[in-house]
Amino acid sequence: KLIYVLNGPNLNLLGKRQPEIYGDETLQDVEDKMRQRGTELDLTIEFFQSNHEGEIIDQIHAARDHAQGIIINPAAYTHTSVAILDALNTFESAVVEVHISNVHKRESFRHHSYVSLRAEAVIAGMGTLGYRVALEYFAQ
Ligand code: DQA
Repeated sequence: KLIYVLNGPNLNLLGKRQPEIYGDETLQDVEDKMRQRGTELDLTIEFFQSNHEGEIIDQIHAARDHAQGIIINPAAYTHTSVAILDALNTFESAVVEVHISNVHKRESFRHHSYVSLRAEAVIAGMGTLGYRVALEYFAQ
């Protein structure tokens, strides 16, 4: 199975960005650990990060022809992007939404997610472990 792992804006700074909220692992660490777990679970990973909404949408379109699942942390676009929701609605396999922090414990503007209207599952507040838990979902 091929799984697309998509990360939104500012996640390139993971490890340096507000470590008290997001921890000190880098996005490269997240990718390395996912690839390792993916190998054990017989999942191939396509890993991508962008600070640009349209590039994330392009990757969702690319996933349409190839991928059996999408794991997405849309970051701030979670709370704003109807366009990402629309793109995910063109994807026919399962979508898992991941947030490193527990968005429900934070500002009220983080409580609403457009992507949750589409996602089969939502993981929040597990730190970067949430990405690997999402992989377990696809291994089932
Ligand atoms: C985030 C939560 C979002 O509210 C925030 O804008 C992010 C990261 C998380 O992983 O906890 O950039 O998606």
